[in-house]
Amino acid sequence: MTDPTYILGIESSCDETACAVVADGHRVLSNVVASQVELHKRFGGVVPEIASRAHIEAINNVMAEALDRAETAAENVAAVAVVNEPGLIGSLLVGLMAAKTAAWVWDVPLVAVNHVYAHAYAPAMDADSIEYPAAALICSGGHTALYQFRSPMELSLLGSTIDDAAGEAFDKVACIMNLGYPGGPPIDRAAREGNAKAIDFPRSLLGGRSLDFSFSGLKTAVLYYVNGVPGERRGRRRKAGPAARRASAQKNAGRGIENFTPQEVADLAASFQAAVVDVLRIKLRRAARETGARTLIVGGGVAANTALRAAMADLADKLHCTLRIPDMPYCLDNAAMVAGLAHHYLNAGQTAELDLGANATVRR
Ligand code: KG4
Ligand code: ZN
Repeated sequence: MTDPTYILGIESSCDETACAVVADGHRVLSNVVASQVELHKRFGGVVPEIASRAHIEAINNVMAEALDRAETAAENVAAVAVVNEPGLIGSLLVGLMAAKTAAWVWDVPLVAVNHVYAHAYAPAMDADSIEYPAAALICSGGHTALYQFRSPMELSLLGSTIDDAAGEAFDKVACIMNLGYPGGPPIDRAAREGNAKAIDFPRSLLGGRSLDFSFSGLKTAVLYYVNGVPGERRGRRRKAGPAARRASAQKNAGRGIENFTPQEVADLAASFQAAVVDVLRIKLRRAARETGARTLIVGGGVAANTALRAAMADLADKLHCTLRIPDMPYCLDNAAMVAGLAHHYLNAGQTAELDLGANATVRR
């Protein structure tokens, strides 16, 4: 039997400083995540400058703790993997510098990993290998996209959001509802007590065959439902768009969230969530049909959503596909998925030079 290959993964693309040690692309020896949520909470979203500063303060300790918990000496690490795209540029650069330094000092290869592709590999962490080809839906705070994966490394983009990401819609709607940041978990909790059919929010499908997404109309519909349509509130008549017309036609519209009863809040959360889940489900079904994939992958922070997990399990059942959705700790940003995916790049000889750069955005 050959010795296991240990890879140290580093992830700092947004507001989590994360390091992990993974053996042979699957076995997670440590998975350390330092969250910055408390720092960004009062701003209702991630402040890039605060994020990069916090990464600088955390990175050395997080890396040391990942090695410590894995009970692995640095000399056993075969490669250092780092997310270099996409993400907040200042945040990415902190992880990148740490990874380059470690790779140089330990004299091991550096492996560049795309954050979104790592989310699509997350279901393989502490679990069986993923069977390819697969249709993958990645929905997080910064990204919502569909891919066809032919292997962990070979993929084609099928569609992506033309405005907000699904997680961003959760965060913004939670802000409208005064539920705090990040918005996914409190909406998920509130929705459990609510009636998902109480309010008829729009499901934007962008045409019968499109694999792109749009969530900004839904967000506006919630805003109008809660606070009223701007022109109408002041008693003036205005030419209203479809979101406004629909919102103003509904019972309870425009009362302000402070006047909603707990049941009405729950109904609002459940109805909004159902609109997002319906769209994600319909689009993944289209992608599965188009690609003929027998494996469905769902990843990214929104994959933690209870209603989404149930809807995707049901979809996979109906399509006779295998659903691969990560266990909770691997839905949200983490470095285990990064070190895991890097194993395949390392085996294929796809390593990076020490002058590797970072990219804030990628469309492929
Ligand atoms: O993947 P992730 O940790 O970071 C990014 O790459 O963006 O995803 C964070 C996003 C946030 O928008 C958060 O509100 C959302 O995932 N999220 C959820 C849930 N838990 C986290 N959305 C819906 N339901 C949840 N339970
Ligand atoms: Zn992410």
